[in-house]
Amino acid sequence: MSASRALLDLLGIDCPIIQAPMAGTSTPALAAPLSTAGALGSLGVAATDAAGARAMIADARARSSRSLNVNVFCHPPARADAAVEAAWLARLAPAFARFGARPPAQLREIYTTFQTDDAMLATLVELAPKVVSFHFGIPAPARVAALRQAGIVLVGTATSLAEGRALAAAGAHAVVAQGYEAGGQRAVFDAEAPDDQLTTLALTQLLARDLAIPVIAAGGIMNGAGIDAALRVGASAAQLGTAFVGCRESAADADYRAALQSDAALHPTMTRVISGRPAGCLANRFTAFGAAIPASAGPAYSITYDAGKALVAAAKAAASPASARSGPGKAPHSRARCLPPSSWPRFAPRCGRSATTCARAPAARSRSPPRDPVEQAPGLGAARRLLSSAP
Ligand SMILES: Cc1cc2nc3c(=O)[nH]c(=O)nc-3n(C[C@H](O)[C@H](O)[C@H](O)COP(=O)(O)O)c2cc1C
Repeated sequence: MSASRALLDLLGIDCPIIQAPMAGTSTPALAAPLSTAGALGSLGVAATDAAGARAMIADARARSSRSLNVNVFCHPPARADAAVEAAWLARLAPAFARFGARPPAQLREIYTTFQTDDAMLATLVELAPKVVSFHFGIPAPARVAALRQAGIVLVGTATSLAEGRALAAAGAHAVVAQGYEAGGQRAVFDAEAPDDQLTTLALTQLLARDLAIPVIAAGGIMNGAGIDAALRVGASAAQLGTAFVGCRESAADADYRAALQSDAALHPTMTRVISGRPAGCLANRFTAFGAAIPASAGPAYSITYDAGKALVAAAKAAASPASARSGPGKAPHSRARCLPPSSWPRFAPRCGRSATTCARAPAARSRSPPRDPVEQAPGLGAARRLLSSAP
């Protein structure tokens, strides 16, 4: 059995495509049609609590009975420091002033880590989604054991060989190789440690050769050609985030969507100024401001994020799309396609025995008519030939 087939069987899917969990951006309406079409739809529940996660899972299950991935964050709990937070707010005051606003009076930790969230653990064990994935580290052994005992497939995220090995040793069934190109929060376990900044293809090869568990490539993959490249270097599947942000079913706002389609998408950067941890996003005035600040100056994750979100709200309240776009916002590096989610599996190479099913997946309604990436992107003719010749 091929490595890719083993992962597809493990996850209960037909095509080697995973829609990345994107807290605040992915939705049940996005995940469900992807799952129905034979890929793996994901929910990011890091920005909500156990009750919110329960509602999202119920919504996704009402729309699709197929495999679902639910993603949590495993960062260390934030250590509050009133002096650091006050200094940070004073530093951000000019950025707020540009939008005629003031920084909030105080900041709080806005994302509870799964490491301490017993209600989230109980909910996941009770509802037992097919897959639980984690970002920023590894759940404590008792949590891993509880999830495994509930029959849940566990997928961790690694940015280095050491993190990949640690995930495998801790009991993960598969690992996401998140390259430096990836949009959104970088998964590094320790945001203060040196970062080797490995690319998606380099990291995927490294992990696929070293680990006994399947590897899923993530970062900068936008189409069938990218999926094919990842599979060729040893990935068993590809996880795509940005490619789905422009879908009608995502929760991305109009400014985010517009930025991804504009020349701003040609200027990616990595910044800590938005959340307190490194995140792949589009360069803008706020990231330039952040580049001049030492990484250690800000409050802990996700206290810094509270300020970042307040600045986005201030930019939006200023009502100028251009000014809102110059505020912070997660978004990466390449003009994203805007495809109905259920159409994606059709473009996955090497779908194996389910290729025909994938090719017949009904297309979801889209606000704009879907562009066919096979016609748009060089190299995708090969994906189409592979698909049509698959048994
Ligand atoms: C808007 C956005 C939000 C994200 N949120 C999460 C998240 O909640 N959990 C997670 O594991 N990964 C998250 N990621 C990272 C993705 O899992 C994945 O690594 C990344 O999207 C791959 O790079 P790509 O965007 O170039 O496809 C997010 C990515 C984006 C673009």
